[in-house]
Amino acid sequence: MSPHLIRPEADPVGRADRPLTVTVDGTPVPGVHGQTLATVLLADGRTHWRTAPTGGPRGVFCGIGVCFDCVATVNDVPDVRLCRRPARDGDVVTTQSRLTGNAQ
Ligand code: FES
Repeated sequence: MSPHLIRPEADPVGRADRPLTVTVDGTPVPGVHGQTLATVLLADGRTHWRTAPTGGPRGVFCGIGVCFDCVATVNDVPDVRLCRRPARDGDVVTTQSRLTGNAQ
C-alpha cells in the first residue's frame, strides 16, 4: 500500500473524495476526508515531524496509537497522536521538538 494520494481522475475505483487542507508549520497540505493527520503528512512526503531528545527523527512507528512517536501540536493542543486523529479541514499542525523547547 502506498501512502501517496492517487488523484481521483486516476483512481480505477471511481471514488469521490472530499478534499481538505491542513496547515503544517505554516504550509498548506492537501488531504481528503477519512485520512488521519499522519496519513496526510505521509502522503505529503514527510517521513518525520518530531525530534527525539537524542536528536533522532520521529514520525509514525506503530500507527495504532501505542508508541506516541507521532505526536504534534494540533490546533494549540500539544501531544496529539497524529496516527489516531482524523484530519479536519483547517486543522493547524505544529511540529514539536525537545531540542527547540516547544513541548515534546
Ligand atoms: S505512530 Fe505510534 S502512537 Fe502514533
